[in-house]
Amino acid sequence: MKILGIETSCDETSAAVVEDGKKILSNVIASQVEIHNPFGGIVPELACRAHVKNLLPVVQEALDQAAIDLTDVEGIAVTAGPGLAGALLMGLTFAKSLAYSLSVPFTGVDHLEAHLMSAFLEHPEIPFPFLGLVVSGGHTNLYFVRGVGEYELLGKTLDDAAGEAFDKGAKAMGLRYPGGPLIDKLSQTGNRKAFRFPRGLSNQEGYHFSFSGLKTALNQCVSRFPQADLQPALPDIAASFQESIVEALTLKLWRAWEAFFAEAVVVAGGVACNRRLREEVSRGAMERNIAVFFPSPSLCSDNAAMIAALGYHSLVRGERSPLSLNPYATMVHKIHAPS
Ligand code: KG4
Ligand code: ZN
Repeated sequence: MKILGIETSCDETSAAVVEDGKKILSNVIASQVEIHNPFGGIVPELACRAHVKNLLPVVQEALDQAAIDLTDVEGIAVTAGPGLAGALLMGLTFAKSLAYSLSVPFTGVDHLEAHLMSAFLEHPEIPFPFLGLVVSGGHTNLYFVRGVGEYELLGKTLDDAAGEAFDKGAKAMGLRYPGGPLIDKLSQTGNRKAFRFPRGLSNQEGYHFSFSGLKTALNQCVSRFPQADLQPALPDIAASFQESIVEALTLKLWRAWEAFFAEAVVVAGGVACNRRLREEVSRGAMERNIAVFFPSPSLCSDNAAMIAALGYHSLVRGERSPLSLNPYATMVHKIHAPS
């Protein structure tokens, strides 16, 4: 069954064709980075306009790369939320209209659930239960996953998301948007012990995260440097800043592992591209003798393949979304603790 996936929750317009929930025939992503870069963050109105402009060519490109026609599409899956309301509406309206005109089934997919399950595209062998860390520009959530559709939210960020912390940190350092990949790169040549930044909530019980204190500490650190001295210090600052985020994440991840019986750890979302995070989670998993899975970078960042793959499983179960489906901006649907 060939599913067309559509994703427009944030600043990427993506369309993909995935066969039987696992074979990626195409996964086209049109980035809007250049549009938002001058503003140092995403401008929702500009994101909406860009989605409208990109949707048709991106979908056509996804069909071309998959070497299929619209008439070969057997179902449509689209991100329904969470995300920017206007941006979601663009993809959702497009997907509903297309499904109606093609007379094919259609389903709205939860973006966070899609990130959480995205590693299955490349690793169908992931055992349950597992601990799933979804780290992106909008979310930092730690789940205990007992099975498909059985997600217990153990912890989340109380303020900024991990990706947001990277992006705001990069802005404070005078780097471009999105800053996560740039900090990752700069850190390669820096000393991660050069500065000591706070590890949010590390002294508190539980599995929540906080990155706002880190942001303040970084701003103070950067402002202490005369302009001419800042540039050479950036790799050390970036590496130390990155280390603080990675340690805050892994501390709670391993704390959760001690409390819950988990067979594996899955890290997904844009921040899962981070090399130091991958290194540290892999090292911790090896020490504890558990399996660890990361999607490939193209499946970590926002993409429609993960939407099509998850949507397939709903559609084969006979689940359909009504054409009256509305987008939802905040984390509500589907991702829940089992009753
Ligand atoms: O999942 P994603 O593409 O979009 C959202 O759903 O938010 O994640 C984007 C976020 C951005 O904040 C970006 O800076 C961050 O992921 N990111 C990284 C890296 N690559 C992307 N953060 C740290 N290191 C990276 N290598
Ligand atoms: Zn995302």
